[in-house]
Amino acid sequence: MTWADRFSPYAKRFQASSLRELFKLLGKPGLISLASGAPEPSLFPTPQLAEIYAELLREPANLQYGTSEGYGPLREQVAARMTARGVRCDVENILITNGGQQGIDFAGQLLLGPGSGLAIQNPSYLGAILSFRPREPRFVPLDQLSGAAMAYVMADFHNPTGLSLSLEERLALTDAARTAGAALVEDDPYGELWFDTPPPSSLATVDLDGRRMDEGNVIHIGTFSKTLAPGLRVGWVAAPRPVISQMVLFKQAADMHPSTLNQVAVSRALEGLPADHYAGLRALYRQRRDQLLTALDRHIDPGVRITRPNGGLFLWATLPEHLDASAIFPDVVAAGVAYAPTEPFHPLGGGPNTFRMGFTLGDADRFEEATKRLASVLNPLL
Ligand SMILES: Cc1ncc(COP(=O)(O)O)c(C=O)c1O
Repeated sequence: MTWADRFSPYAKRFQASSLRELFKLLGKPGLISLASGAPEPSLFPTPQLAEIYAELLREPANLQYGTSEGYGPLREQVAARMTARGVRCDVENILITNGGQQGIDFAGQLLLGPGSGLAIQNPSYLGAILSFRPREPRFVPLDQLSGAAMAYVMADFHNPTGLSLSLEERLALTDAARTAGAALVEDDPYGELWFDTPPPSSLATVDLDGRRMDEGNVIHIGTFSKTLAPGLRVGWVAAPRPVISQMVLFKQAADMHPSTLNQVAVSRALEGLPADHYAGLRALYRQRRDQLLTALDRHIDPGVRITRPNGGLFLWATLPEHLDASAIFPDVVAAGVAYAPTEPFHPLGGGPNTFRMGFTLGDADRFEEATKRLASVLNPLL
């Protein structure tokens, strides 16, 4: 008997994404990869964190077990930040998680079973799809909420498209979710990374319309991965108390509590962040978006449609329908560049002709070279 034969039916439903195979090609020397969504490391508050950790490590209590809900002062800070955004939270409405991904996984654990209706954008975030799929939900389009248990939505600077919902769309969606009795799960890692104007109010803000979080229909998932550093693995769920109480049980079963040391460090870092921290992130990512778009406009055939996001970390490209971004991928890598094919980001099917490009890592010269290489493969096909 092999190990795989012993795995439970639930375990067997976890499938590696087809991207894993394609991304094995990424080790090629000299390759310029636009496939990643990793933040720019020079933006991490590394000097501040070095000082904070040095100080925290003088106090053994910072290495002790903590509570499953998370570190109290950090929960207070998150509740205050959410309240400032129009989501009136008490500390009891906040659970600290190991990144946003754990909040997504807990939302699926809370709401989805075999056959549950899961209304979802198409495309959607691959990490969420991979977490939800083994629970065997019935994926349906976002405009077919009737009978759905959950709607999972990125309203701001969506991964992979980079696009945001308009205020009208947010109003319609929050209304429709309430009418259908579907819990609205808002995944918002990018809302603070806007470039020109802030996005419309969050789905939680629109849904509450001034009421307190406990009266809401939204489970809001946030993270410090894109605004501080992803390796800290600190995120949060803001939700009505019954949701938080149940997720605390999940947290106890999964990993007991978030890292004490990292939570205290994030809490201190938030207190000491320079006033222009967020402006600095926005300015650099905005510049890189512009540099990549300029290079693409210069070199890529206009038959490739490319989104022009006003925030976040990604551009999304659509090739003519007869082309397949995964099939072309080996040629693209052979030319010395890589993107992320986004067919696997489509829970409702479709999208073989689409791909995502991250603009976080690079500068004008690197993007110029990357797009020349990409053009050498794509333009002759158009
Ligand atoms: C839409 C979306 N949600 C959640 C995550 C997970 O982030 P975290 O590092 O906080 O787990 C990501 C990461 O890229 C993301 O793009």
